[in-house]
Amino acid sequence: MSDLNSTNAALLPMPRLLIDGKWIDAADGATFETIDPASETVICAVARGRAEDVDRACRAAHRALSGPWRRLTPFERGRMLMRLADLVDRDIDLLAGLERRDVGKPAGEAEGDIRGVANCLRYNAGAADKMEGATIPLGPDYVDFTELEPVGVTAHIVPWNYPLGMAARSVAPALAAGCTVVLKPAEQSPLTALAFGRLCQEAGLPEGVVNIVTGYGLEAGDPLVRHPLVRSITFTGSIATGRNIYAAAAPGLTPVVLELGGKNPMIVCADADIDRATTDALDASFGNSGQVCSSASRYILHRSIRDAFLDALAAKVAQLRVGPPEDNPHLGPLASREQYEKVLGYLRLGEKDGLRLRFGGARPPGLDRGYYLAPTVFEDVDPDHPLATEEIFGPVAVACTFDDDDEAVDLANRLETGLVAGLYTRDISRALALGRRLDFGSVWINGWFIGGLQAPTGGEKSSGIGRERGLPGIRNYLRIKNIGIRI
Ligand code: NAI
Ligand code: MG
Repeated sequence: MSDLNSTNAALLPMPRLLIDGKWIDAADGATFETIDPASETVICAVARGRAEDVDRACRAAHRALSGPWRRLTPFERGRMLMRLADLVDRDIDLLAGLERRDVGKPAGEAEGDIRGVANCLRYNAGAADKMEGATIPLGPDYVDFTELEPVGVTAHIVPWNYPLGMAARSVAPALAAGCTVVLKPAEQSPLTALAFGRLCQEAGLPEGVVNIVTGYGLEAGDPLVRHPLVRSITFTGSIATGRNIYAAAAPGLTPVVLELGGKNPMIVCADADIDRATTDALDASFGNSGQVCSSASRYILHRSIRDAFLDALAAKVAQLRVGPPEDNPHLGPLASREQYEKVLGYLRLGEKDGLRLRFGGARPPGLDRGYYLAPTVFEDVDPDHPLATEEIFGPVAVACTFDDDDEAVDLANRLETGLVAGLYTRDISRALALGRRLDFGSVWINGWFIGGLQAPTGGEKSSGIGRERGLPGIRNYLRIKNIGIRI
């Protein structure tokens, strides 16, 4: 297949580690394989970084802080990131092709993700010279002001659902702030990060400013978050790993930004536009095969529209295509065998406990290979059942009903997670009043995936700490220095 050949060509001389501007093997020469989840075949071997490699990367990133990178003005840094964005656009076919193969993303979605990476770089590039300090009025005898300085070496640990998108979300603002970077992609999806590393070199980023260590969580991620030279950690992934990282960061008092997913409710009131809500649910629940931290995985439906909602949704879902990523279906395979098994485990549990399956629940016919699963909804699920409380991270949603707004708020808030809540109602006052009572980092009204590069995102409660994107996303990588002068 020409596709395979171009993938291989794109990977030369990778897939090795990028440390201090050089592509090198892991210190002990170890590698691991990355798998194409559509064909269940090996794509290629990738360097398996461990503590020694992480240490080299952190030291290189630390040295780079006092090199040519430091002498660039914020404006010049921004220009360099703009150049990098243009290179990402230039190589969009290659990058989208790698993403598609590595995690089974539908072709169009993969392309959209890469376009998002370029635009994320541009947003942060444009902000690089606009992060201003303040003057503080201490009275006639003093001048007091703040300067915002780069925090130093930053660590970025990234999941596999939007491999390059998640990397760019934190790497771009860290670079805009003048920091240096050690990036550890997920072991399931290391390829686009490596291709991105080559583009960083081509864009002229000095050696050591961006370092990339591929490998496993315990072998490469853990030493990275414990490394004494790291001054900021940004992590997206599971709650359990987020807790481990927070604990590992504690001895060094290293600040963390954690984005840990959720079990996000879509509340549909009696007066909602059902057509809009169900159309939104297609992407909200089944886009990226449901492997999205902000997916809609709990439908909280007013009893009066329960049937109308589920009937309309079932009719629309019947039109969705599940299939090979290169055919640009609505749903490709799940990203890995591990994730597939995890989701199947939840489906088995639902069956065992006699949950009512509205549709889906199995591998679609005609797809014998690859980690494919049909869009699935269980109805009338007990809010305490694990399918209603745990993040499944697959194309699976559960529905329950409510009778009044207080009950809807209780159902939404009762879990330990609080990433995103969505509300559908034609009564905007009611929406705003309800929205204020929801314990979530984002509340979306009459739409899903509202936001983008400019709007901060992050979770409450166990869904995380801190915010990414927008200007708050850059402030994560700046420290405030106060300078006081007696005159
Ligand atoms: P994970 O959270 O364990 O892995 C994410 C990243 O963290 C990977 O790069 C991994 O190598 C790294 N990592 C793992 N353990 C580490 C440690 N002790 N120290 C430092 N880095 C470490 O997630 P996993 O196992 O891939 O997926 C399990 C579940 O997590 C999914 O089923 C889903 O529910 C959730 N998840 C949520 C995501 C989100 O967007 N919030 C993204 C990916 C997974
Ligand atoms: Mg893979």
